[in-house]
Amino acid sequence: MLANKRILLIIGGGIAAYKSLELIRRLQDQGAEVVPVLTQAGEAFVTPLSVSALAGQAVHRDLFDLTAEAEMGHIQLSRSADLLVVAPATADLMAKMANGHANDLASTLLLATDTPVLLAPAMNVRMWEHPATQRNLATLRADGVACVGPDEGSMACGEFGPGRLAEPEAIVQAILAKLADGPLKGRRILLTSGPTHEPIDPVRYIANRSSGAQGTALARALRDLGAEVVFVTGPASVAPPDGVQTVPVETAQQMADAVAAALPADAAVFAAAVADWRVTSASDRKLKKSKDGLPVMEFAENPDILKTVAHLDKGRPGLVVGFAAETNDVVENATAKRLRKGCDWIVANDVSPATGIMGGRENAVTLISEDGAESWPRMDKDAVARKLADRIAQALAAAG
Ligand code: C5P
Repeated sequence: MLANKRILLIIGGGIAAYKSLELIRRLQDQGAEVVPVLTQAGEAFVTPLSVSALAGQAVHRDLFDLTAEAEMGHIQLSRSADLLVVAPATADLMAKMANGHANDLASTLLLATDTPVLLAPAMNVRMWEHPATQRNLATLRADGVACVGPDEGSMACGEFGPGRLAEPEAIVQAILAKLADGPLKGRRILLTSGPTHEPIDPVRYIANRSSGAQGTALARALRDLGAEVVFVTGPASVAPPDGVQTVPVETAQQMADAVAAALPADAAVFAAAVADWRVTSASDRKLKKSKDGLPVMEFAENPDILKTVAHLDKGRPGLVVGFAAETNDVVENATAKRLRKGCDWIVANDVSPATGIMGGRENAVTLISEDGAESWPRMDKDAVARKLADRIAQALAAAG
């Protein structure tokens, strides 16, 4: 619930601005007060009248609005909010924010505050993928700005790809997560999950049986304790939770790149079942049956993401957690793995088929740290996730 919370909603100019009207409604359903701000470009897409009628209060539009200055002033406006939400956040607004511009009401409010900010970007796919926007995004993330979406799909401009505004419900969930008051509030946690797919040709790939269920449950549990979760997931068979920053990837190399881009973080948890090998030169055409015999495939080793992050000299997260799926001698193998990988904890489990754990609902894990091995009773994956999230919160609190 968002009772007694005041959300300053900055509506940027873009076709997705119409969804901000629905967002206002949903925030009010949660009990929030929505203070609306409309940029000049935003006014081309939604009218001030619709925005203020829905919000139940005047919409702020001008930097030099004398009445507002006399009553409250733009500085006061942004500081009295619990959260600033920019939806849609256009490429232009992001560029202004990243560079500290303050030449209209929206950019001035964003610069004049130390209130947390959540962006819901929406723009054309090429604009989103442009190095300038990605640079600005990295700057904003490093400044502590959170982001929900953009989603991938067909766009109003007729193109397809990432750039669609996150659905209002997902934005509400991200707001709930951002304002959640838990022991992980203010902590940024990086989490990998799911399998990876390593292409053989455009239609075939090498994969494994990981469903991503344990990693996804952990993303939810960390979010519910108030963490800002960056969720880097391979093609899992369960949907990513709302209210986390989902970065979908396919291959191990893409996962490694996404992890590098998401750092720094207070903690990093590597629950993904990363493929150890990739096909050296995946064909860009579908391989055909041939009279000349069977195709010969050469393999190369994938980067070990956990090991790389655990060994970082600069920017190593304060807590690095790996997983170990073993079929025999679980504790011995996982203890050795903790040392080999250089991580702080290993969450080990027995995935031999008889346990029914891989792809199943339950898990039985042993937590291995420098203090030794601690076996937890068999419980469902959500319960394992909650227990692990609690332990992560305790460890970060103890480290200060
Ligand atoms: O070496 P192994 O695959 O058993 O190690 C498992 C742990 O290492 C998991 O936490 C997994 O996410 C991580 N890992 C990784 N990158 C790899 C292989 C494994 O991050 N290439």
